[in-house]
Amino acid sequence: MSYGSDPQHASVTEQSFAQQAPTFEDERFNRVLTTDSDWLYNSLPRTTGDLLLDVAAGTGLAGRSLAGQVRAVIALDTTAGMLETGRRAAADEGLTNIVFQRGDAAALPFLDASFEIVVCRYALHHFPEPELQLAQMARVLRPGGHLALADLQADANPNAATVQNHLERLRDPSHAHALPAAKLRAAIERPGLTIVATETRAVRRPLAPWMAQTETPREAMEKIEFALTGELDRRGAPTGFQPQRDATGNLTIMQTLTSLVARKPG
Ligand SMILES: C[S@@+](CC[C@H](N)C(=O)[O-])C[C@H]1O[C@@H](n2cnc3c(N)ncnc32)[C@H](O)[C@@H]1O
Repeated sequence: MSYGSDPQHASVTEQSFAQQAPTFEDERFNRVLTTDSDWLYNSLPRTTGDLLLDVAAGTGLAGRSLAGQVRAVIALDTTAGMLETGRRAAADEGLTNIVFQRGDAAALPFLDASFEIVVCRYALHHFPEPELQLAQMARVLRPGGHLALADLQADANPNAATVQNHLERLRDPSHAHALPAAKLRAAIERPGLTIVATETRAVRRPLAPWMAQTETPREAMEKIEFALTGELDRRGAPTGFQPQRDATGNLTIMQTLTSLVARKPG
């Protein structure tokens, strides 16, 4: 498998998600990123005749949620453990029109113009060179077809965004970089797609389960907490996470999630 141009990052990613696979079906960990996600597809046109590709699908949460509204879904990911967890969940849900396939988003194993819909959810920030994967997604879309891309959005302030991406990588070394809104839009438009809808939501999450999900090592946890409390106490730089303490004194962070729907001309 080719994995774009960075085999070492690919191996770190696979290791990280092999560990995280069970957490994706566990609401204690990241409900805001997993089960509470129907809003991402509010503006995505779809019909029961459509073939849908879920790129970097993980356990196929996006593809599974849309499977009842389209003809068939292919859920593609590099991490065998994520696919296996998704396969079992799809069987439990009684789905019969979804296939789980191991593959690299930087070298999609499909002919040009094969899909009416491509979705890619919360994965772009794991790609060191996202233009490779976006070009592939645009290639396999049929003219007139739609890409629904959801991702973390980095802070508009470049200094805060640098700290934010650094803390994300401390938490999970498979994080490459989240992009700010303008760069994300430009990246989607580069392969010739036209953005037709955008929706953004800010979600506040407790810090502890966010780090528990990735089994962040103690030393990295302490660095993350130091940066967040530094911003709170006004002795440190903005982190892009807008930290707060909840009623019981536990740290919480803000993440901005964005959903973009883009159309391939034709
Ligand atoms: C944060 S998870 C998101 C999974 C799923 N899209 C969701 O929303 O639940 C990121 C996924 O991207 C996958 N991934 C990372 N790089 C990939 C690549 N080059 N090709 C395919 N999958 C990749 C990882 O294995 C992981 O399952």
